[in-house]
Amino acid sequence: MVAAAAAAALLTALPLQAGFRVTPYLQNPAPGALTLSWLSDDPGAGQASLQALDGGPAIRVSSSPVEAGALEYHPAETLLVGRGEERASSPPFLHEVRLEGLAPGTRYRYEVEQGAETARGRLVTPPLDAREPVRFVVFGDSETEPESAGSFVLWPDPEDPHEDPDTGRRYLVDEETGYRENLRLIREREPHFVAIAGDLVESGGEQRDWDAYWRLTAPLAADTFLLPALGNHDYYGGPAIFGFYAPQASARALAKYRTYFDLPGNGTGAHAERYYALRWGPVTLVVLDLNNGLPQHGPSDTNFYMLGEGEGGSAPDWQPGSPQYRWLEETLRAAQQKNGFTFVVAHHCPYSSGVHGVPPGRGEGLDPLSGLPLRALSPLFLQYGVDALFTGHDEMYERSVVPGQERLPDGATREHVLQVYDVGVAGDGLRGPVEGAVNPYRAFLAHADSPERWENGVLLDGGKHYGHLEVNVEPVGETGWRAQLDMVYLFPLMDADGAVHGFERRLYDDRVVLQAGPAAGDH
Ligand SMILES: [Fe+2]
Repeated sequence: MVAAAAAAALLTALPLQAGFRVTPYLQNPAPGALTLSWLSDDPGAGQASLQALDGGPAIRVSSSPVEAGALEYHPAETLLVGRGEERASSPPFLHEVRLEGLAPGTRYRYEVEQGAETARGRLVTPPLDAREPVRFVVFGDSETEPESAGSFVLWPDPEDPHEDPDTGRRYLVDEETGYRENLRLIREREPHFVAIAGDLVESGGEQRDWDAYWRLTAPLAADTFLLPALGNHDYYGGPAIFGFYAPQASARALAKYRTYFDLPGNGTGAHAERYYALRWGPVTLVVLDLNNGLPQHGPSDTNFYMLGEGEGGSAPDWQPGSPQYRWLEETLRAAQQKNGFTFVVAHHCPYSSGVHGVPPGRGEGLDPLSGLPLRALSPLFLQYGVDALFTGHDEMYERSVVPGQERLPDGATREHVLQVYDVGVAGDGLRGPVEGAVNPYRAFLAHADSPERWENGVLLDGGKHYGHLEVNVEPVGETGWRAQLDMVYLFPLMDADGAVHGFERRLYDDRVVLQAGPAAGDH
């Protein structure tokens, strides 16, 4: 009790910072609209102005800040003060400004004044039907927390893949450095948006983990739209006193997520901001919440710890007949009839050689967070011609190719393959395969297919590293499209002593090229 009282006194003694608690970030893009959000320490309104780079009148808006009670610290977090973490004593104020009437496919710059501070950024609005290239990035599993600084994850050696926490090999840089450098490389490439395959934070219910998230992610989000999917950690209240996946704990975690993000509507009330879709040029992006499958502890359960739907913050069901499934089928049917590509983003990976690639259950050889139940969705994805499913959760780089049949709108069928990716290597684990995980469709696994080449204690090439998927979509001919998917990794450059002194952007030898549109004889 004495320690708690001292911690509380320390908290209240911290001065409020003038200006931003989180600098402005871009969200919810539509052809003529977007949301600009930021957080401040004090309740004063901020001023946003936006102007097209090629001129035209500036749009000026004042924010209407609301106190973000969901971003309050859990009482247990006060006990963690004293580790050098700074935090304010009261919840911040959320400024969420919806800007409308913008020109599609147009470059803008913006400026936000809050208190004594000014922040600036730039963006491109989504196009309508312009035949312009699109670039986006996908990764998962940033799992930020203050403890990521100085934490070096196990890095299973393909030659000797034991993962003993005491003696196992550790990665060359810490988790926070991996994530920060990953974002820096992404920002240099100026993608239009970044899709996130869940597990943004370590504990969704710990505010300190969200503080770490925005400290690292806000610089990228100033210029790039973030399009997140919920992962199990985003529903996780936190360990022990934080309540694990208890209904109130998950509800607290989800409330933080939904406070930070403004996401496209899906026509439901109860499931708002959990699954959604949007169109960017020739790309339809469908984002799902596959964190729960009913009944609890049944063969479709993707989280044995989370209670049934409707209890606290539990995730919505995804099986046939559920509202999410019906929405998904309608969304995929509409996407199939448009020229271009359909990509789906979710957290759990149905085809994996990793820890979550074993059957659902408790006990030896089973996993309470298994991705295998989601294989039940593959026929639907194939039927509507989904091009790729992007996931994380297993924290490896793995790609699988799932064959099947697409049914065309005129009733004819044809052979189709679904590319399935685990790109959960943003900045947390760098795992290897496990015994018992059987993935019949595996096409590439960084652990196995990118052999490390060492010389005198210096890594020259290969290996599994932090990274992200970059997708470049370009017009072909009059009406066709081509999508190129490249897995990028941050190769750590080592000096002769084995110390890492920088990173180089490299690609795994695993490029995928997709064609769409009448010119390609597709769709
Ligand atoms: Fe996960």
